[in-house]
Amino acid sequence: MEPRSLLRLLFLLLAALVLLLIHSTRSYLHDLPNSSSTLRPVLNSRPRPTITTTVSSQSSHESDVPHHPLDPLTIQEINTARSIILSYHPFSSSPSSLIIHSLVLQEPDKPVVLSWHPGLPLPPRHASTIIRFLNSSYSLTIDFSTKNITSNPLPSSGYPTMTIEDMNSACWAPLSDSNFNATILGRGVRLSDLACLPISSGWFGPQDEHRRLIKVQCYSAEGTANFYMRPIEGLTVLLDLDTKQVVHISDVSPDIPIPKSSGTEYRFDSLSLKDNHKTKPLNPISLEQPAGPSFEIENGHVVRWAGWEFHLKPDPRAGVVVSAVRVTDPETGEKRRVMYKGFTSELFVPYMDPTDAWYFKTYMDAGEYGFGLQAMPLVPLNDCPRNAKYMDGVFAAADGRPYVRQNMVCLFESYGGDIGWRHSESPITGMGIREARPKVTLVARMAASVANYDYIVDWEFQTDGLIRVKAGLSGILMVKGTPYVNMNQVPKNEEMYGTLLSENVVGVIHDHYITFHLDMDVDGSENSFVKVKLEREETDQKESPRVSYLKATRHVAKSEKEAQVKLNLYQPSELHVVNPSKLTRVGNPVGYKLVPAGTAATLMDPQDPPQLRAAFTNNQLWVTPYNKSEEWAGGVFVYQSKGEDTLAVWSDRDRSIENKDIVLWYTLGFHHVPCQEDFPIMPTVYSSFDLKPVNFFEYNPILKSPPNLEKDLPICNAAASA
Ligand SMILES: *[C@@H]1O[C@H](CO)[C@@H](O)[C@H](O)[C@H]1NC(C)=O
Ligand SMILES: *[C@@H]1O[C@H](CO)[C@@H](O)[C@H](O)[C@H]1NC(C)=O
Ligand SMILES: *[C@@H]1O[C@H](CO)[C@@H](O)[C@H](O)[C@H]1NC(C)=O
Ligand SMILES: *[C@@H]1O[C@H](CO)[C@@H](O)[C@H](O)[C@H]1NC(C)=O
Ligand SMILES: *[C@@H]1O[C@H](CO)[C@@H](O)[C@H](O)[C@H]1NC(C)=O
Repeated sequence: MEPRSLLRLLFLLLAALVLLLIHSTRSYLHDLPNSSSTLRPVLNSRPRPTITTTVSSQSSHESDVPHHPLDPLTIQEINTARSIILSYHPFSSSPSSLIIHSLVLQEPDKPVVLSWHPGLPLPPRHASTIIRFLNSSYSLTIDFSTKNITSNPLPSSGYPTMTIEDMNSACWAPLSDSNFNATILGRGVRLSDLACLPISSGWFGPQDEHRRLIKVQCYSAEGTANFYMRPIEGLTVLLDLDTKQVVHISDVSPDIPIPKSSGTEYRFDSLSLKDNHKTKPLNPISLEQPAGPSFEIENGHVVRWAGWEFHLKPDPRAGVVVSAVRVTDPETGEKRRVMYKGFTSELFVPYMDPTDAWYFKTYMDAGEYGFGLQAMPLVPLNDCPRNAKYMDGVFAAADGRPYVRQNMVCLFESYGGDIGWRHSESPITGMGIREARPKVTLVARMAASVANYDYIVDWEFQTDGLIRVKAGLSGILMVKGTPYVNMNQVPKNEEMYGTLLSENVVGVIHDHYITFHLDMDVDGSENSFVKVKLEREETDQKESPRVSYLKATRHVAKSEKEAQVKLNLYQPSELHVVNPSKLTRVGNPVGYKLVPAGTAATLMDPQDPPQLRAAFTNNQLWVTPYNKSEEWAGGVFVYQSKGEDTLAVWSDRDRSIENKDIVLWYTLGFHHVPCQEDFPIMPTVYSSFDLKPVNFFEYNPILKSPPNLEKDLPICNAAASA
């Protein structure tokens, strides 16, 4: 579902990018605010989309310069890197064969970043690039000061993240095959109504090696913008992604009808709203900050709020990266380190239908499609509230030219009416105490639309030192055509692989896993992972009328395998990261704990090829020693990978992790059995996990925060009259 959405979005993006590249005489691109409505993926209108470049509300970014060692590459740096690459042998012999799959900052080594502070010159800047050239992959580092290029070792299997151009061209390529055209026409679909998606094909054995492959599946966009609900079921085109040749066309269910278009619309302006008054609409609502927000963004990326300080940046693969997170101790005023780097390392979205047209749908949205590449501009007032500030992404296209993804990340203070802490005294004490504090948080948000599916990722900072990482799932289901229009037609033993959502439409069961890289540095880099096991302890009958109680026992993990955690309600543990050499006043090691919320674990066979590739989801938590090159849980080259370079492989080395610089990897999971409410577009489902201080502060860090008072708040006539 998600990967497919990703694909679709990518397809749209590609179309937009390609057009922009062709039509823009400028050195950078602006993304379009209305991509979903302006870019229709209908084939006969090529070049279909009318793309209007819009001027960024803030800045064109053309004169941006880096201010912080972790600042992303600027437009100028991307242009410089591109010219260095183009003049490098062998690329210089055939520049038009060069495809840039990734061009990003190569961050300086961690000690260099940690010892830097504002006022010092920036450490030397380097770019890291992944290139395809005449069917070979290259991983290179570019030194901006010397203009030198060095070559890095390549993974043993897999290919780089697709470019938008890969995805776009894959959608069009089948049309050069007359058998394909004939098949589509045979299904009763006009070629002008066709909408296709590039679907990563995974890896299922030697037949899937030695060339870049992709599968293309198509839909009818006749009568709807929501073509995802009109699959041409069972038709799969296998394509060589480099030559764009059709390798094979599989058409397994030509008799399945294409579902109707009615009822699939979701755009407000196109819905018939005549009947919309059966419930009273809500009055307008928004959070007002007459004195402005309390956060500041320094030089584009360094955020400060309520004692927090962190570096925030968009990334084409990870989406957003949160770095150098520090929190001010309310007692000493000291800025204390909490986390060096946190980001979405990989996603895994396996569909649970093993048949010909579905078995391969096992998307890895970051490494295959680029989670950040799929992050569209956020919709003001709706994706983010009125008081939000926006951050643009600056990325490199496949030809190495920079472009701007506007409003990719938003940052805002959130007040949802929750309580920070409270206490009231009951009349029996006669004290009349009523103390309560409002809970205000700071949210950094992005939303990736990976074709049909939409993922929202929030990094939410609380005033009490807690960081909540939240993932929301919305968008449009990946559905399967079926001959049935009612459950009463379905034979008793027939395997549906999902839920009948509408006439001829089955929502296929699937999972979502989002694996986060969390390089915790609690008051320094040397930390330990402690499992605080909660276990039943039996009493000695003579000492207590009680038979049992709960006892917490601390177990410091010595090596990686001791820190591979499968959650279990009946064998619970708290999951602490502590600094063993820093104790509180009363002698506890300072720490943070990872607190899971609702989550799901994979039920697939560990030897199933998709699960081998996504073995990083085999545990909910892993802890590894810091290694700069271990960032992507599914490996650097995830596309068609065989699972040789995953977090599971690294962790099985069982390296020592006690009192070391350690990285936590947490996987947030969802099982999704679709239901009719998910049609034609899904209400958002959220889950999250927390990084919560545990004996980090000497006492409640928001003890001294003031209450809200009427006199300090905006005058709101509308509310007063209600
Ligand atoms: C975006 O949509 C709005 C509302 O539908 C419209 O007024 C505006 O012209 C559109 N902008 C572009 C660039 O298409
Ligand atoms: C690239 O690989 C394809 C097969 O995927 C092959 O047909 C083509 O000749 C190769 N091109 C070069 C330049 O080696
Ligand atoms: C650039 O690389 C070449 C070859 O690796 C090396 O000989 C040269 O010293 C490097 N130049 C600088 C300035 O580092
Ligand atoms: C398939 O149809 C498309 C759209 O009509 C057309 O552009 C293309 O040339 C056709 N392909 C072949 C091989 O006829
Ligand atoms: C760092 O990670 C890479 C990739 O997993 C690995 O090849 C290398 O051996 C690791 N280094 C250490 C010291 O573990």
